[in-house]
Amino acid sequence: MHTMLQLVIDMVTCLCTASPAKQRDYTNCSPQWGDGVIYQGAVEKPSKLLQVVTFDLPVSTANAIIHCITAVNSKPSSTAAAVSVTSGGTGYNFVTLHFQSDRNHGIHYNVTISGR
Ligand SMILES: *[C@@H]1O[C@H](CO)[C@@H](O)[C@H](O)[C@H]1NC(C)=O
Repeated sequence: MHTMLQLVIDMVTCLCTASPAKQRDYTNCSPQWGDGVIYQGAVEKPSKLLQVVTFDLPVSTANAIIHCITAVNSKPSSTAAAVSVTSGGTGYNFVTLHFQSDRNHGIHYNVTISGR
């Protein structure tokens, strides 16, 4: 019975570490022939003492459809932010990336968006 209990505890622990709030690098990429870079830039927001820092990056294209979105943490992973798409995304001509830092940390990401 003890090993069964331990197994359940392990599963719960595993679910916790896989929760979306812990997501670090963001990748949603289905590249297609002829894609080009639509947007490339760094998101740099300084930390605020004992606070969570958030930032929204809206990107819209004239008429290109987005096929690939990557947001790569450019600082050690222990201080990475959570990244999510809050509107648009792949298959659309716009996207909003939402960044939320850990408390007491800033936001340091390289973002690349491509499509055609
Ligand atoms: C982020 O972009 C900068 C400037 O282009 C580059 O020097 C750095 O290596 C990039 N970091 C990552 C993790 O891709």
